[in-house]
Amino acid sequence: MNNIVLIGFMGTGKSTIAKSLSEILSMTVLEMDEEIVRREGMSIPEIFESKGETYFRDLETDLLIEMQSQKAMIISCGGGVPLRERNVAEMKKNGKVVLLTAAPETILERVKNDDNRPLLKGNKNVAYITELMKQRQRKYEAAADIIVSVDKKSVQEICRELMEAL
Ligand code: S3P
Repeated sequence: MNNIVLIGFMGTGKSTIAKSLSEILSMTVLEMDEEIVRREGMSIPEIFESKGETYFRDLETDLLIEMQSQKAMIISCGGGVPLRERNVAEMKKNGKVVLLTAAPETILERVKNDDNRPLLKGNKNVAYITELMKQRQRKYEAAADIIVSVDKKSVQEICRELMEAL
């Protein structure tokens, strides 16, 4: 069984969908952000603050490469992972890449009370999210084998749609 790689902007629900899919399909989840936090012993804002974004991005690449030796995993990627070409090549080696999309308003609603995303610090508004999303859109779509929009859908509906497309 190939891996399922979930990508998408912050707040599109990758972690929630990964957890639900893992129960339905009896697959193991790797939550990239969580694994990096566990290994570094620091939160993501702390890693960005003390070591810088490039250091964090390199950890993402290393972890992704490591995961390609695994099978039957659901890999829930941090929102920035598909932005590096190398990362996209790695995720495609052994996985079906599923892009979750949502409207900026949906994203804002989900991230507004969360302080764990350094890129959105001081930028929690629809205009900023729309702009950052626009900058990333082409790379997200280029990486995806399957695209599922999550707006106004339940977790069950999203999982069903995704599994039908797999
Ligand atoms: C990031 C998304 C975050 C986390 C980091 C950077 C991004 O993950 O990896 O804050 O560049 O989009 P989530 O997509 O799980 O929020």
